Amino acid sequence: MINEEEKMKKDECGCGCHDENLHEEQNCCDEDCCCDPMEEIMLDADPNGMFEICVNINGEMGNLIVSKDETLLEALRSYGWKGTKKGCDTGDCGSCTIIFNGKPVLGCMMPAVSAHGGNITTIEGLGTVRNPHPIQQAFVEAGAVQCGFCIPGMILSTKALLDKNPEPTEAEIRKALDGNLCRCTGYVTQINAVNIAARKMKEMKDQAGTNPNAAYMGKPRGEAE
Ligand code: FES
Ligand code: FES
Repeated sequence: MINEEEKMKKDECGCGCHDENLHEEQNCCDEDCCCDPMEEIMLDADPNGMFEICVNINGEMGNLIVSKDETLLEALRSYGWKGTKKGCDTGDCGSCTIIFNGKPVLGCMMPAVSAHGGNITTIEGLGTVRNPHPIQQAFVEAGAVQCGFCIPGMILSTKALLDKNPEPTEAEIRKALDGNLCRCTGYVTQINAVNIAARKMKEMKDQAGTNPNAAYMGKPRGEAE
């Protein structure tokens, strides 16, 4: 439970986190706050009750028409970003994980309208079949992929981790992936995959002196090379 002092801190930060356990666990109000203070969203519905949101998806700005009840997962999939998987739809499996404003979030738990003005990375924003992102290469090399359904979410959780912490410990990797369930594997190969990915990204950064993500961003949705 959060004590009074922490509760005041939470209220002051305005993070809007309504899950006290999550708030406590993730040290909300610190720099790692699990949910950013959201600006009040003032969107007007059209005559059909739909809202137009403006979002940056994988480096490109675009407008999506969404209903007030639609989740971000549903909106992304209806616009063709089907790499974001719908598993449980109740916030338990992690297969719908995307990166929103630099943090991994569950698309099935986020109202689409609240994404207005945000930056989204989906699995389509990483590599392609011919030009995979080093994290995708690492998951293949480690044999961490079986049916593949959980993998987009796993990879985006990994990306969010490595962007922030390029050399994570095993405990940090386990914590970052603990919301991503996999029905096929034993959770060992994915840990290996993250370690391989971290090494690959470090090598790329050392060799090129550039951001290893740079070459993989900004492609149109669903592009298949
Ligand atoms: S589909 Fe979102 S957590 Fe399972
Ligand atoms: S590889 Fe099948 S659910 Fe993870």
